[in-house]
Amino acid sequence: MYNNNPTLDFNKKIEEDKQGNIFFKEQVVSKTNDENKKFYIESYGCQMNFSDSEIVASILNDMGYASTRDMEESDLILINTCSIREKAEDTVRKRLRVFDKIKNKKPGTLIGVLGCMAERLKDKLLHQEKLVDLVVGPDAYRDLPNLIATADDGDKGINVFLSREETYSDISPIRLGSNGVSAFVTIMRGCDNMCSFCVVPFTRGRERSRDPFSILAECNDLFSRGFREVTLLGQNVDSYKWKNPDTNEPVDFADLIEMVAQIHPDLRVRFSTSHPKDITDKVLENMAKYENICKYIHLPVQSGNSRILKKMNRTYDREWYMDKMRAIWRIIPDCAVSSDIIAGFCGETEEEHQDTLSMIEFSQYSMSYMFFYSERPGTLAARKYEDDIPLDVKKRRLQEIIRLQNQISFRKNQASIGKTFKVLIEKVSKRSDTDLAGRNSQNKMIVFPRKDAKIGEYAYVKVTDCTAATLKGHLVDAPEV
Ligand code: 5AD
Ligand code: SF4
Repeated sequence: MYNNNPTLDFNKKIEEDKQGNIFFKEQVVSKTNDENKKFYIESYGCQMNFSDSEIVASILNDMGYASTRDMEESDLILINTCSIREKAEDTVRKRLRVFDKIKNKKPGTLIGVLGCMAERLKDKLLHQEKLVDLVVGPDAYRDLPNLIATADDGDKGINVFLSREETYSDISPIRLGSNGVSAFVTIMRGCDNMCSFCVVPFTRGRERSRDPFSILAECNDLFSRGFREVTLLGQNVDSYKWKNPDTNEPVDFADLIEMVAQIHPDLRVRFSTSHPKDITDKVLENMAKYENICKYIHLPVQSGNSRILKKMNRTYDREWYMDKMRAIWRIIPDCAVSSDIIAGFCGETEEEHQDTLSMIEFSQYSMSYMFFYSERPGTLAARKYEDDIPLDVKKRRLQEIIRLQNQISFRKNQASIGKTFKVLIEKVSKRSDTDLAGRNSQNKMIVFPRKDAKIGEYAYVKVTDCTAATLKGHLVDAPEV
């Protein structure tokens, strides 16, 4: 029942800015006939948005919309938006101005805003950006056929209803920009955590978990189509919780990764994002038990200081986080850990900032996404605390964090020289056609001369050199066990 539409050919461009924000621009090429209506979609923000765009593409495909990478020839231009920081919203506004020009040239074109900004700004968007025809929140994509019909009739289509149940579990995503090797699979939606800086609980609503049978069916289908890696996605995967309505049997996240790992030893399992308060030893033990569950955890610390963590409402303190790191090292000694870090949260002192630096040193993250605090309207922090750290101080602290993280990443890369890793080959290297690139279990990209290796296969690579970002090496025979 899952789509594998051979008439579509996808091509994704991923851009990463200096702070590690990832922007996905899906450009979807259609080879379907010209009389079809066409849509064009761009996504910004987190992997979850990227994954949602694949659900939207599937719904539009069912409506008979073909896709195009040329926005000028499209009848429907969609932008899947992010509200997490002000800068992300500014970027989207700039893109809307570009779309406006196209609509001026071709008045029938519909323009739709999807995702978190749609949810946060609601009908304000229709008034502020007069040429926007559709505003669709993250739980309302099934309503797209109605909303598009309304907009075609000249009215504005808006649905920002947040659901307690919607998981789109029966919709088979169309893989946008796929390399045919790795895919994202959404396992839960929303977030109940209420970190005080974060707008996500307001834009994505309450936490709900997807039926594990539909998750397994999607992963099985991906494997049978040649995919070799799934990344299970959720704002807080460790609070995945599902109860079989017939037997009352519970399934938690540790059970789920075990079930997915058992699909096939050649299917790698990754997941993101983990929350330090919820990740359990049972998850870590299952990671250690299955070779195909990747030894990599994205475990955002946000701050290394207990007073700031309390103000952030993270519900753990510095000691708790350090204990989690110790548990990871004990149970999975070869595990890599990465983090998200915020510099300059409300009231943060220089000493508290130093605690963040010492936490980065303690944790030895393989990489981090690092930001300075950006107040978001409506969040707990915006209501309770003054955003009182001057921008230049925020930026200086962020630079110190970035500098330290870069040193650690480089040191860790250097320590990999001489080691051999099993990699899943994902693509041709950006820099040279004669090189391939694949990641090891710890999520590190390794580039090597291709010889006769093929994308989608596993290979063993010995690391011989590195930069701050990548490892370089050459193919070797499988080590004897
Ligand atoms: N300001 C800066 N960074 C933020 N993040 C979330 N909200 C904010 C904000 N208001 C960061 C957190 C989170 C990541 C996805 O984005 O580090 O883990
Ligand atoms: Fe935002 Fe915290 Fe939920 Fe992550 S866990 S989405 S930071 S509220």
